[in-house]
Amino acid sequence: MSSTVSSAVSSAVSSTPAPLRPGARAIVTGGFGFVGSHLVGALAARGVAVTVLDVCPPPAALPDGVEHRIADLRDPQAVRAALAPADVVFHLAGNASGTLSVDRPRFDFETNAEGTFNLCEALLELPPRRFVYLSSAMVYGRPESTPMPEDHPLRPFLPYAASKLAGEHVAQSMFESFGLPAVIGRAFTIYGPGEDPRRAGGEVSQFVRWHLNGRPIPAVGDAERKTRDFAHVDDLVEGLLTIAERGTPGEVYNLGTGSETSLRELADVIGAVTGRPADLRCDDEVLDDSYRHVADIDKLRALGYRPRVSLEAGVAALAAALGEHPELPSMPAVFHRPTAA
Ligand SMILES: NC(=O)c1ccc[n+]([C@@H]2O[C@H](COP(=O)([O-])OP(=O)(O)OC[C@H]3O[C@@H](n4cnc5c(N)ncnc54)[C@H](O)[C@@H]3O)[C@@H](O)[C@H]2O)c1
Repeated sequence: MSSTVSSAVSSAVSSTPAPLRPGARAIVTGGFGFVGSHLVGALAARGVAVTVLDVCPPPAALPDGVEHRIADLRDPQAVRAALAPADVVFHLAGNASGTLSVDRPRFDFETNAEGTFNLCEALLELPPRRFVYLSSAMVYGRPESTPMPEDHPLRPFLPYAASKLAGEHVAQSMFESFGLPAVIGRAFTIYGPGEDPRRAGGEVSQFVRWHLNGRPIPAVGDAERKTRDFAHVDDLVEGLLTIAERGTPGEVYNLGTGSETSLRELADVIGAVTGRPADLRCDDEVLDDSYRHVADIDKLRALGYRPRVSLEAGVAALAAALGEHPELPSMPAVFHRPTAA
């Protein structure tokens, strides 16, 4: 790395983060995905000038003030060519599916781990005042305590979790060695409108879609013992904005609600909200992820963050947004590649 790059990055670290208000510039990788589109909408509503970097073409309508550049993160030259100066870079692009990572682990690693390296390396030439990497609570592996703080052991058991953790290590090392001001958020189980039912594996969206179609809800695991921290995408976006503006470079923050809900309780909420009992049918032969997976969010709370969307309100809004007969989910939960018979 040239000394010019090195001093440019160091001066970025010593400066305070850019408040995300009118006049600020942000890049959102993966800005056309589920979480990214909500983040882009929130930034645009604040008057932030947003550039989306995504491998997919844009949706028909983009909010005012939003530009886009098509680039595949796996291609270092394309990433370099697509970057523009920005105060904050939110890195959300990647494979978000654990099932796909079992099916195509190399694709998953190249996208999440190498893609993050390519982006960070390119950013050393154009250092932002904050680099926010959206990781996943899957990096913890099976919980040893509940709720899980950020210093819980890291024992990924899916290729997806390993590639997300590799991305974290890339971001951390770019901070330590080159001063790239990286903050890391570990999201728990996110739900809300806009998830693609063919790719999304989150229980809330899947359960609501089966139920709205008048069908039994298929799930894997123990309905009582399998608990999750279900966070509405609006709360996740607020958490991302919080760590961008007030997080400390080099630090990791859990992004969740701190509330614990079992699959049975989720089905009960869906039944109460829709006025029709939900028929939950759990396959309790598959117990790989029947654990309590809940965030300790004290560190995020210390930055002033508070979750705002209750599960009841979030499920009601999702059911209303999906309408009477939404597309059924088709992403199974797969933890192991099937062995040959
Ligand atoms: N959805 C969740 O519950 C959840 C939970 C924890 C962490 N996350 C993380 O949040 C991020 C976003 O997840 P999501 O649910 O919005 O996923 P998504 O699949 O809806 O969106 C991902 C976006 O990244 C883009 N992308 C994928 N590969 C790319 C590449 N090689 N180059 C450029 N762009 C590429 C896609 O086109 C898409 O727009 C992911 O990094 C995921 O690991 C999501």
